[in-house]
Amino acid sequence: MARITIAIDGPAASGKSTVGERVAAALGYLYFDTGVMYRAVTWAAIDRGIDIADEPAVTALAETLAIRVEPPTVSDGRQYTVFADDVDITWGIRGAEVNRGVSPVSAYRGVRSALTEQQRRIGMQGGVVMVGRDIGTVVLPEAQVKVYLDASLHERARRRFVESAERGARVPFAEVVADLANRDRIDSSREVAPLSRAKGAQYLDTTRLDIDQVVARILDLVRGTEEMNDAGA
Ligand code: DC
Repeated sequence: MARITIAIDGPAASGKSTVGERVAAALGYLYFDTGVMYRAVTWAAIDRGIDIADEPAVTALAETLAIRVEPPTVSDGRQYTVFADDVDITWGIRGAEVNRGVSPVSAYRGVRSALTEQQRRIGMQGGVVMVGRDIGTVVLPEAQVKVYLDASLHERARRRFVESAERGARVPFAEVVADLANRDRIDSSREVAPLSRAKGAQYLDTTRLDIDQVVARILDLVRGTEEMNDAGA
């Protein structure tokens, strides 16, 4: 059976990473979370004292930073290990400062083209579940299965709140809501590759669905596509 490409897009905390990882594991595919790359550039800018508002400097950094995503090198609940120029930044990219800086960084055209090119190379190999904001629209418009995951702002904030509490963070719920609303606004209204539903993407509102249900629906879509491919072959 041909290994297809699956694009999953949606707003922050809509469940893309949990669902994407589970779908990839069920199919024996590679799971690739593109948000990690924007976060890595943001982390490196902060680490090197580059002003997030300095577009040329942040863009030059995105063009030269060596970002690698590998299977977990430490067993501490991580989905993968992320390196930037050989430094393990897996947890660093989840901090509050990166959360605040990543939406402006990902709105820069030059940053997007540097990272999109690397993402395309990975996606072209097939057998990939790629998650992000613009995978079905810009990175892999030819993906055979496209999904747009959504959930209400309140439900997404609740999930993010529980997740960070499990990691020991104590961020007030109202702050989580405000942070998500702000990121949604920037991600959806930016000029380059804004978050939007791709043509042909299946819309899944997960507000009242659990993870198993969402994964099952996507696997159904994949099976349907495989059957169509086989019938046409
Ligand atoms: O999915 P995430 O929260 O890790 O993404 C972090 C930021 O990166 C998000 O605010 C928008 C941006 N992003 C993007 O613009 N395009 C992608 N394909 C993935 C993420």
